[in-house]
Amino acid sequence: MQIDTPQVLFKNRHLGRPATFEEYRAGGGYEALISTVGKRTPAEVLQLVLEADLRGRGGAGFPAGKKWQGIPADYVGPRYVVVNTDEMEPGTFKDRILVNVDPHLVIEGIVLCAYAVQATEGVCFIRPSYESDAVLLEEQSRVAREHGLLGNSILGTTFSFDIHVHRSAGRYICGEASAQIKAISGLRPNPRKGGPRTSVKGLWDCPTIVNNLETLANLPGIVRNGPQWFKSLARSATGSGTKLFSVSGRVVRPGCYELPIGTPLREIIYTHAGGMPPGRVLKAVIPGGASTPFMPDKYLDLEMDFEPMKKAGQRFGTASIMVFDQNTCLVGATLNLIEFFARESCGWCTPCREGLPYVRYLLRLIEGGQGQEAHIAMIKDAAKAMRSAYCAFAPGAAEPLLSLFEFFEPEVREHLRQKRCPFGNPPPAVRGKACGTRPPDFGPTPCPEDQCPI
Ligand SMILES: Cc1cc2nc3c(=O)[nH]c(=O)nc-3n(C[C@H](O)[C@H](O)[C@H](O)COP(=O)(O)O)c2cc1C
Ligand code: SF4
Repeated sequence: MQIDTPQVLFKNRHLGRPATFEEYRAGGGYEALISTVGKRTPAEVLQLVLEADLRGRGGAGFPAGKKWQGIPADYVGPRYVVVNTDEMEPGTFKDRILVNVDPHLVIEGIVLCAYAVQATEGVCFIRPSYESDAVLLEEQSRVAREHGLLGNSILGTTFSFDIHVHRSAGRYICGEASAQIKAISGLRPNPRKGGPRTSVKGLWDCPTIVNNLETLANLPGIVRNGPQWFKSLARSATGSGTKLFSVSGRVVRPGCYELPIGTPLREIIYTHAGGMPPGRVLKAVIPGGASTPFMPDKYLDLEMDFEPMKKAGQRFGTASIMVFDQNTCLVGATLNLIEFFARESCGWCTPCREGLPYVRYLLRLIEGGQGQEAHIAMIKDAAKAMRSAYCAFAPGAAEPLLSLFEFFEPEVREHLRQKRCPFGNPPPAVRGKACGTRPPDFGPTPCPEDQCPI
């Protein structure tokens, strides 16, 4: 399909291969860096980013420039940039595609950030299943180094900065900024709360800027074309720039689309992603990755941007849209997500560590036709308790859960009435046998017998 909206991040998109260094340069790549290093002050770059109102693309939407301002002005010593490429949120597949489309856009963005905050080292934290992307980043960093755009004395100036690729051990919680810093440091990656922000005390206790990879890839465009240009790309009054939308589920053309931030959800699904396959009717949409709620079709005309979504009581998240049709069991879909969250809990706090396996157990009962009326209240109570967990992980897991009951409770009750899944799903398999180490309410511990540590 011909996309007629401005392509900034995907300007150099080629079918099945990344843009080369030469192709990137031919399209004006690295001009932002060349016009900046040694020619503009770091404060000037920061000012451009503040004026552009670049908001983080990793889920929370925090303004990038404001985060960078968090580094104490009088700090003397090493500073770091951590590029969050963990991308383990189910439904999200934009950072990987961006690396594969234009690795040098990513590298230029990282170096511009490093210049603005005067960092000397950058760490790309990447999930292990993205090994080929880790290799690609390493190879293309070498190419950038050979051209004097990375490493010692960049462009012959006194500014030196290099990038290391760090392979994650592969846990979702390592995507959370403070946990990621601990993971890189070789510590147990449970999130850190309270105390100084990572921009004050991060990697090796030094000021560290953690930004999502897509966030940083916007920097070359902002520096080259200016903040007003960046703002003009958005379709919503409050938005800035374009956004990568990962669209999956029941659509004709699932994929990753670069569109103006603020593009209505209906247009993304029905125009860009080709709409529903013949005979399928849209029942629900998850708008921003697995830790955002199920929304019924009355929300389809929402502008996909942080503020309009927030105003409607919804979440923009990573703008990773999952589409469900009338034949999909939403109890089963929620269970699928809760299976993931229960497995990935870091175990630090009780509402998450205990609440998620508890809810998983109850959802398995309902989906398998053994649900009882009391289970509904039990799940809702547990989901509400998750909102008071230590970090944002469990409140995120509670989002699809609570919205299932807010908008689709009749579907849950139909499971109780028919004593089976009304969509014909087989009862969920519970692997292994109960090991008896948990209270009976929590049900069988689902570790396979051969891996049981007891
Ligand atoms: C459980 C959890 C997982 C996360 N995973 C990611 C991730 O994979 N990538 C990411 O960029 N941000 C992730 N985040 C958000 C980060 O904590 C952080 O806000 C983000 O990397 C900051 O970058 P940004 O300001 O550019 O968005 C996650 C947060 C939580 C709570
Ligand atoms: S909510 Fe608690 S147990 Fe869950 S990931 Fe965060 S700190 Fe760990």
